[in-house]
Amino acid sequence: MKFETLCVIGMGYIGLPTASVFAGKGIHVTGMDTNGAIIEGLRAGKPHIFEPGLGELLLEALRSGHLEISSEVVPADAFIIAVPTPFYDDKRADMRAVTAASESIVPHLRRGNLVILESTSPPRTTVDLVLPILEKSGLKAGQDFLLAYSPERVLPGRILQELVDNPRVIGGIDAASAEAGRDLYRAFVQGDIILTDATTAEMVKLMENTSRDINIAIANEFSRLAQTFDVDIWEAIGIANLHPRVDILRPGVGVGGHCISVDPWFLVEAAPEIARLVRMARLVNDGQPVFVAEHIQAVAGGVEGKTIAFLGLAFKPNVDDVRESPAVELVHHLQAAGARVYAYEPFKAQAGIPGVNQVAHLEEALAEADLVVLGVGHDRFKALDPLVVREMTPAALVYDGVNAWEKSAWEAAGFEFFGLARKL
Ligand SMILES: NC(=O)c1ccc[n+]([C@@H]2O[C@H](COP(=O)([O-])OP(=O)(O)OC[C@H]3O[C@@H](n4cnc5c(N)ncnc54)[C@H](O)[C@@H]3O)[C@@H](O)[C@H]2O)c1
Repeated sequence: MKFETLCVIGMGYIGLPTASVFAGKGIHVTGMDTNGAIIEGLRAGKPHIFEPGLGELLLEALRSGHLEISSEVVPADAFIIAVPTPFYDDKRADMRAVTAASESIVPHLRRGNLVILESTSPPRTTVDLVLPILEKSGLKAGQDFLLAYSPERVLPGRILQELVDNPRVIGGIDAASAEAGRDLYRAFVQGDIILTDATTAEMVKLMENTSRDINIAIANEFSRLAQTFDVDIWEAIGIANLHPRVDILRPGVGVGGHCISVDPWFLVEAAPEIARLVRMARLVNDGQPVFVAEHIQAVAGGVEGKTIAFLGLAFKPNVDDVRESPAVELVHHLQAAGARVYAYEPFKAQAGIPGVNQVAHLEEALAEADLVVLGVGHDRFKALDPLVVREMTPAALVYDGVNAWEKSAWEAAGFEFFGLARKL
């Protein structure tokens, strides 16, 4: 099947790179979003997200005329839905954006069109939620139009590369839909394209993120056990991983982002009696910021009235995404314990996180600090020279939550040094 026009709904971390890459392959793409500020910025060639190479690609796509940015869905040969799927406070999947995006396609759906859902979704969303909405057009799925689910599995920071190189799963509501999806993504995907049914593809995505969450949970639980027994977890993991069939992940201050910390809940909600291990892993990982906050208080003799320079707010190293970030949780816990926290996030100097006192420069964070806490292992934090930091702060104590710093180097610079599950 040949596709000349495409409408991508949702211009975020997934939709924007996807739309730009398709446009770079000569397909006429309309990138649609409901957020006026985002549309305005993109039309001016300014992405609202940080992703290496994206700015240049966007500019080129706009300049070539292959990409247009719109506040409305427009008729097209194919539609891709890439809108957010967060959860409510009670962890139930919030499918309002997927519902609204599907409804916005209905007036434009034509015979022969292909609709692809990319948003990470609970099992059976494509067939039980999206399909009936699209059929309100009077057209029949599988007969008049094609419908498939294709999960996105890119790594923020490497999105443009992984979009092209990663294997892509396409699950159709029938074989023709899956094949049409393959024809569409072949425009740029160089990795394998695996065809399956829609619900299997949904499960694949959820299983990938859930298995990662569970593996991190066991690493976090090991860090607590190690701390209890005064064992250095990093040394212990290093030794255990010498075993040819063991691969323990790294513990940290928690698990965040809007994928790994969210998606397992979709399985818990869909089958609570079965997904017990999945739920428990979520609880372990969600409890890690409290555990680390308590450890910081223990080694610092309490934090009440103390000033903390907190380095890193992103949910993981070298990205600007602060959604569901455990580092932010940790800041909140330290503040609740009475600390005055100055948080510095180099990838997003003004993230506007409620209740977080963010500063724009490292110097500001360090200037009056009693202690320095490393919450995210950004490369630029790893590269900090303790002797230089010594000149910038009166802080006596350093706490490394992510095993990024060399204890001896910080001690040599005159700091008392502590870290998550490191030997005292
Ligand atoms: N970010 C990632 O690394 C990643 C990786 C894999 C999968 N996913 C999944 O992809 C989906 C999108 O995630 P994201 O990170 O791109 O989200 P995002 O929040 O960065 O972007 C979503 C965009 O959709 C827009 N939007 C919301 N409702 C809309 C509607 N009804 N119509 C049009 N636009 C609408 C928002 O304004 C926003 O710009 C989610 O389901 C997510 O779980 C994300």
